[in-house]
Amino acid sequence: MDLTRIDVAAPSRPYPVLLGEDLASRLKVHLDEIRFPDRRILVSSPRVWRLHGARVSSGFEALALIVVPDGERSKHLRTVSRIYDGLIAAGADRGSGVVAVGGGVVGDMAGFAAATYLRGMEVAHVPTTLLAQVDSAIGGKTGVNLREGKNLVGAFHQPSAVLMDPSFLRTLDRREFRAGLYEVLKYAIACSAPLFDRLDGDFDSIARRLAPALLPVIEECCRIKARIVTEDERDQGVRRVLNFGHTAGHAFEAVTRYRRFRHGEAVAYGMLVAAELGHRRRRFDTGARDAFARLLWRFGGLPPIRDLRTSELMEVITRDKKIVDGRLHFVLP
Ligand code: GLY
Repeated sequence: MDLTRIDVAAPSRPYPVLLGEDLASRLKVHLDEIRFPDRRILVSSPRVWRLHGARVSSGFEALALIVVPDGERSKHLRTVSRIYDGLIAAGADRGSGVVAVGGGVVGDMAGFAAATYLRGMEVAHVPTTLLAQVDSAIGGKTGVNLREGKNLVGAFHQPSAVLMDPSFLRTLDRREFRAGLYEVLKYAIACSAPLFDRLDGDFDSIARRLAPALLPVIEECCRIKARIVTEDERDQGVRRVLNFGHTAGHAFEAVTRYRRFRHGEAVAYGMLVAAELGHRRRRFDTGARDAFARLLWRFGGLPPIRDLRTSELMEVITRDKKIVDGRLHFVLP
């Protein structure tokens, strides 16, 4: 089996991202290889576990399995509390390790629990959605939403490894897969013109999840993310380009109480806002803006926004984490 290894040389903890078909059934081997703690606690969601639990747990000995709901609406402190309860019941200690098997929400919550339980234990991510594979599982951002805003509570806590199996993506529903593609488009606009051309040129095959078209795209996003996190682990500089689309995007999520959008969909709207701002400031020419919007709309429809109030969106935006010294930092293309 082909295994691709991408190294993230984060100053606080260097770690590998491994990408390989059917890697899910060999987690133990890979975790043993990196000397991940033997006392392992799995954290997953009901849906992911129903679909993939048998494969993941074959030959894998875990102290416990903690199943928590996923979806943005569940990404709050009460759910993290359930993970703490499970860790206590399992007798987890600082020498134990959390293995998070799921999408971005499970990864963010399990990562946050690992960052804070007993002041920190190791975590390995096994991302099962496109969005988590190309973005959220790499880079150590963990946390939860508050009613007032997205990811307002959290910690940087780098994983010990990220283990990716693209076969997980076959069971994603179309909307979830598409939501991940918007984050891929983010990388294309913010970091890589060749990736944009590849997305545009191979669009049909990528949308059909054909491995020869999709895998290089996932790999390229992981390489970009690894490079950026290596350079700027804590969002002080270049990493902020990865917040492209997220300022307005997070506001769209918060004002709809995390019920209307998948994260990637809100980011898609956020990118359209940022593209328009960039265009008005003459930093994004008309041709580029239109090519970007054309590709974005090719992905399919987005949930409606006509009923949302600008004043409410602006109120949330002014509480954004990206405010530094009272000034909102907006990433423009
Ligand atoms: N999702 C953006 C970042 O990890 O920095």
